[in-house]
Amino acid sequence: MNKNAMEHIETASVDELRQLQVERLKKTLNHAYHNSTVYKQKFDEAGVHPDDFKHLEDLAKFPFTTKKDLRDNYPFGMFAVPQEQIVRVHASSGTTGQPTVVGYTQHDINIWSDVVARSLRAAGLSSKDTIQVSYGYGLFTGGLGAHYGVERLGATVIPMSGGQTDKQAQLIHDFKPTALMVTPSYCLNIIEALEKKFGSAKDCSIKTGVFGAEPWTNEMRKEIETRLGIDALDIYGLSEVMGPGVAMECLESKDGPTIWEDHFYPEIINPETGEVVQDGELGELVFTTITKEGMPVIRYRTRDLTRLLPGTSRTMRRMDKIVGRSDDMMIIRGVNVFPSQIEEQILQIPQLIANYQIHICKQGHLDTLHIRTEMRQDSSPQLAMQLANQLKSQIKTMVGISVSVEVLNEGSLPRSEGKAQRVFDIRQSA
Ligand code: DLL
Repeated sequence: MNKNAMEHIETASVDELRQLQVERLKKTLNHAYHNSTVYKQKFDEAGVHPDDFKHLEDLAKFPFTTKKDLRDNYPFGMFAVPQEQIVRVHASSGTTGQPTVVGYTQHDINIWSDVVARSLRAAGLSSKDTIQVSYGYGLFTGGLGAHYGVERLGATVIPMSGGQTDKQAQLIHDFKPTALMVTPSYCLNIIEALEKKFGSAKDCSIKTGVFGAEPWTNEMRKEIETRLGIDALDIYGLSEVMGPGVAMECLESKDGPTIWEDHFYPEIINPETGEVVQDGELGELVFTTITKEGMPVIRYRTRDLTRLLPGTSRTMRRMDKIVGRSDDMMIIRGVNVFPSQIEEQILQIPQLIANYQIHICKQGHLDTLHIRTEMRQDSSPQLAMQLANQLKSQIKTMVGISVSVEVLNEGSLPRSEGKAQRVFDIRQSA
């Protein structure tokens, strides 16, 4: 196959895609039931058998998988093949408790590389490109997942990994990559380093950014695109399902990641009731892997809140930008608030920088938010007050909550080198 060409299934008819999904789902449900004691038990307890699956709607009869299942079966209890067939493991640390571990056969690694290569092609990249991978290498799926995809595309990979920000900027200057794969928050950090070291970031060789692993808003996209002079595209994925490359935004439409539905079957559910909702409705994203061997997951609850949208550049459906994770939702005096809503408001104000912290504090019996953000260099203390008031009033109007705001000088807050931590719950320590 021509490495730079689209695959047939990307533009096949919806009927062909649905038929393929049914076949692959049947196979996966059988594989999980017959080769994983965890799934055998879960299906038996729910009173369902793989033979009950005839049509796509039948998937709703099957039980969900959650992070707890992975934790309870730590480390390798979810694997559905003999250990000797597992060629790689990854793990995500999580914020609390046991890490969750995932395992891949050689076939899984090949498919993962294929979907990442396909994602890079969707970003307009080809074997002619040089791609700096600044996602962390190691147990995190970002670095190695991206790396194998770049190699599969036949492009040149610069395996920089995360951290050493000054060196990141130096390598961009010296090796002249045409694309950068990194978390959006760390990209901002690299932009600052480029600006400091070389006067400007806009003039560098990078033309395309493939950003993901954390929620980011369209306002953040604009900020990065302007300061780096690039097209910034959204790549989505999670370790339990595969890693980066479960879904990828296409350059020609820039309208939310296309889900590679020939490998990952999506559903949106009402997070309270578990019922499947219609395409277009907001809810929790659930994935069933339909080609994975080493650790298939059936109806994995991602906790990510989004909507399924019709395909545009491809036959496959898209997902809207993630609003947030249900775990990240803050309830402030009865109002549901996501960090992304605060980010949107910060970035409406040109003098503010997209580096911020949200502190959840207690005032009397009530929870309140304290926002810490930074203003661009050379702004005066008077301006800081003015910007703080402006942001406060915007958040009140647009999000519907009263917050306190502190505007600091550029460089005051710690910088992210991977996934940024935005929310700090200081209710206990206050
Ligand atoms: O973050 C995989 C990845 C690496 C994706 C590099 C993209 C690029 P985990 O560490 O398991 O895997 O975290 C998965 O990160 O459930 C989302 O909450 C969040 N996430 C990932 N991509 C996006 C995105 C990797 N594009 C969790 N937008 C997911 C918003 C994202 N959130």
